[in-house]
Amino acid sequence: MRQKQTIILAIESSCDDTSAAVLKNYTVLSNLIAGQSVHSEYGGVVPELASRAHLQNIVPVVDAAIKKADINKDEIDAIAFTKGPGLLGSLIVGTSFAKSMSLALNIPLIDVNHMYGHVLAHFIDDAGNDKPEFPFLCLTVSGGHTQIVLARDPLDMEVIGTTIDDAAGEAFDKSAKVIGFDYPGGPLIDKHAQNGNKKAFQFAKPRVDGFNYSFSGLKTSILYFIQKQEQENPNFISENLDDLCASIQFAIIEVLMKQLVKAADYHGIMNIAIAGGVSANSGLRERIKELGSSKGWKTFVPKFEYCTDNAAMIAVTAKFMFDKSMFTDQKVSAQARVPFNSNGVK
Ligand code: KG4
Ligand code: ZN
Repeated sequence: MRQKQTIILAIESSCDDTSAAVLKNYTVLSNLIAGQSVHSEYGGVVPELASRAHLQNIVPVVDAAIKKADINKDEIDAIAFTKGPGLLGSLIVGTSFAKSMSLALNIPLIDVNHMYGHVLAHFIDDAGNDKPEFPFLCLTVSGGHTQIVLARDPLDMEVIGTTIDDAAGEAFDKSAKVIGFDYPGGPLIDKHAQNGNKKAFQFAKPRVDGFNYSFSGLKTSILYFIQKQEQENPNFISENLDDLCASIQFAIIEVLMKQLVKAADYHGIMNIAIAGGVSANSGLRERIKELGSSKGWKTFVPKFEYCTDNAAMIAVTAKFMFDKSMFTDQKVSAQARVPFNSNGVK
């Protein structure tokens, strides 16, 4: 007998994107994202403004996701939401909405760890790559996190390396701010880097133990270098924009790759994935594939749309949890910090 297909509606509101998705098992029926342009002039996400924008966006986005999926509400088997980590005010909007909807429809509620979502985005049917085989390492790089995750099973993962200060996305965004780009500047660095010489300028390389990361020294080195150059030539940035972006991007990628290679060698793992907003970076995508061919790794690079925050990755994580009846109840609350293993081992 064929098993019934599971339809899950998921909501993601951990930072500055309000997203809703409907998945039938691992297939995306809809995955809509409302971004928030309101932050760009402030050089970063303003939590209060983000919460307000989520409140304005959530009903239209969920409604549109259900319509696009072409389903009736009574076909939905469970409601999933991002419990954390993230901005508390933002998370509360998605959490409250999901709780109300689960109560109204009388269906199970699933609380998802955002960081599991980034890793498990690889298991969305149209993720753009084969599904990774376990065990695999996933370099999860976003605006808030930089982690090397050892994934043994969909719901059994361990962080074996993490940043001790800034995240890789912050290294991109803060460097971009020095150059004069609006927030988030990561994608703009990527765009300009494509026409630049990555070896034009060199910056200080961090030395960190184990598989951990540090980006604050690199950020300072970039800042001082630019300030010094500008004293000699006030047009330094505009005259060297592409080379500067390429060199900054190259420096960040080399830091990321060094620890990843160390971790892969140490654990003897040949399946290597990347995830999170920064994995949309074209230089990183290229470098991981190059390293893959030189080291004999099988690499997994998801489509752009599943790298940055999206609700499809929350829905696919919830599908794994649904199959193990890992439901939560109406007492659940959003949490700015969530221990990494809180999905698998409750
Ligand atoms: O995963 P994400 O969408 O949100 C968080 O959970 O943080 O990641 C956002 C981060 C931002 O720092 C943004 O600048 C960075 O991902 N990002 C990029 C690119 N696209 C997004 N950084 C470098 N190159 C890109 N193409
Ligand atoms: Zn994220």
